[in-house]
Amino acid sequence: MKTEEKINFGHKDLLGIENLTPGEIMQLLDAAVAFKGVLTRDVKKVPTLRGRTVVNLFYENSTRTRTSFELAARRLSAEVLNFDVATSSVKKGEVLYDTVETIEALGADYIVLRNGNSGSPHFLARSVKASVINAGDGLHEHPTQALLDAFTIRESLGDLKGLHVALIGDILHSRVARSNIFLLTKLGVKVTLIGPPTLVPDDFRPLGVRICHTLREGLRDVDVIYLLRIQMERQQTNLFPSLEEYRTLYGINTERLKWAKPDAIVMHPGPVNLGVEISRDVMTMPQAKILQQVTNGVAVRMAVFYLLQGVREQNAKIART
Ligand code: CP
Repeated sequence: MKTEEKINFGHKDLLGIENLTPGEIMQLLDAAVAFKGVLTRDVKKVPTLRGRTVVNLFYENSTRTRTSFELAARRLSAEVLNFDVATSSVKKGEVLYDTVETIEALGADYIVLRNGNSGSPHFLARSVKASVINAGDGLHEHPTQALLDAFTIRESLGDLKGLHVALIGDILHSRVARSNIFLLTKLGVKVTLIGPPTLVPDDFRPLGVRICHTLREGLRDVDVIYLLRIQMERQQTNLFPSLEEYRTLYGINTERLKWAKPDAIVMHPGPVNLGVEISRDVMTMPQAKILQQVTNGVAVRMAVFYLLQGVREQNAKIART
């Protein structure tokens, strides 16, 4: 990290990786190391968000992200409300802005939003005083996933700079891929995208990545094999002939692991289509870091709340003077 990049985190919201500097990303990752330490103590709680309210507002399904945001907020002593979209007035036609305005009127300090519309957290962040955290917006970004992935890579392999990461699969529909591409390229990681041309179009080249349509060629000299979920629910047309064909061409098994570097690690954001992107035996190998990613999600999200709270307190102090 260059000296001039060692600046304080300067955002009210966490909307994406694209607008963060390398210094801000490193600050988040370093803070997460400290919070991972907190999570190994007998008492896994600190008072950072005491008296604050966090609302989880998820319009799309989630297991990992929602639960780890909830746990992170509770570990920081916040009040947590999990807004139930399915039984709310959203079902009567209430629009996102009205829902969020109502939540803010009830005293929310943080709104963690997952929504199918790309850009929805950015729109809200301009309109509310609460800090908005993007937990996945359409096909756009999933910033905390990329942060926990970077944290896990650094924990497993050391300094990120100079590593080579292959992202494999449905890049086109993946907000996880976009956030990872932004983060990894900002930190000097070489990124190769692997998949069929229908899922890995040339449009991604300007982001500073290499593109390969064959697995063997793409995995050469790779340190991290990052598998993406085939998102059947987001495909408007059949972009590959069948899951069986995808498995045959791009699925990772123990033999194909050998095409990467000998100590390469395997990652996946989940949920996994077992037997499609990854074979069962690879899932249980020590180099598979998929559950470690989930564990690290709590510390990383604690770090996000911690840095945003610092900005909120700073802004409140300025407003008082
Ligand atoms: N990685 C991820 O976003 O998983 P969930 O959809 O379970 O939150």
